[in-house]
Amino acid sequence: MTLWARTCTVRQMIDVAELHPGGIDRFETRRPIPRADYDALSRDIIALKKKLNAVILAHNYQVSEIQDVADYVGDSLGLAQQAAKTSAQVIVFCGVHFMAETAKILNPNKIVILPDKDAGCSLETSCPASKLKELQEKNPNFWTIAYINCSAEVKALCDVICTSGNAVKIVNAAPKDKDILFVPDENLGSWVMEQTGRPMTLWRGNCYVHVEWTSSAILRIREDYPGAPVVAHPECTRAVRLLADEVCSTEKMVAYCRNSPAKAIIIATEAGMLHRLKKECPDKTFIPAPTENCRCNECRFMKMNTLEKLYNCMERLEPRVELPPSTISRARISLDRMLEISARA
Ligand code: 13P
Ligand code: SF4
Repeated sequence: MTLWARTCTVRQMIDVAELHPGGIDRFETRRPIPRADYDALSRDIIALKKKLNAVILAHNYQVSEIQDVADYVGDSLGLAQQAAKTSAQVIVFCGVHFMAETAKILNPNKIVILPDKDAGCSLETSCPASKLKELQEKNPNFWTIAYINCSAEVKALCDVICTSGNAVKIVNAAPKDKDILFVPDENLGSWVMEQTGRPMTLWRGNCYVHVEWTSSAILRIREDYPGAPVVAHPECTRAVRLLADEVCSTEKMVAYCRNSPAKAIIIATEAGMLHRLKKECPDKTFIPAPTENCRCNECRFMKMNTLEKLYNCMERLEPRVELPPSTISRARISLDRMLEISARA
């Protein structure tokens, strides 16, 4: 058994085996690269970017060296908004696969590449399009709101997309005579129900990283850092959210931390966020909230992307995101609806 597998919960090992055969090996092959090599590779990536007329979009959970070469680093909403307005010919998407798909749906005529096409998401896997279709057919009055963490096929089946940054606004804008089906994250869904008071049917999916935080682990870290506010992502369980001073998307975490008078802040989300927060608020201390069993606050899918893979994908213009035109045109309707509602005052 590998060292990483030994330090994880049984459920997490099952997750790896079920969701991503070979994931452990890939995770284990990550190795440290000397700083000088990173600097040289970063310079090559920036040169290649100019040559290709490319834009590099990176999620807040990406490794620090990728965040540092990106043109834009942000949450799913910010990344979708950037993808919708870019004039670059090539979009290099450093995040997970569904995020790159979103960029392709918004830019069907552009080349969209990503460092590792196997970078999935446990939420995406939890909601196969065929199962969703079955449920929708049995409930014709459903208005389906899909969290952006889902496949392009699921986006094509729903009425509107949301992200953690705009979910409350999207649910509030749903037609009042419809029954809302919220897929695939039950934790984000239950948080939005609490915020809006709107009942919804929830798909039973979750983020395998965010459910690792427990109320007892949060209570312990609070004792160690009295006075430090806790900021948690809405993908965390309700027990954790109830202990948090702020529950928000990764981009809103940046704003919260900037505006908070606190000098130390406890962060309950994926570890990559800490790099972004330290860059934005260099005078503050960020404490990663501990998980119960092990150091499970890294998303193995987000961490499949490395600087080397980023360079390689730009040099080869592979792997590319390709989607059937019919999926693109249907999914575009739900994404455009999200962008339009999001832009409302
Ligand atoms: P954000 O949109 O808040 O960055 O969340 C994306 C995600 O995958 C959280 O796990
Ligand atoms: Fe998906 Fe969770 Fe990873 Fe986000 S952190 S990409 S929700 S598995």
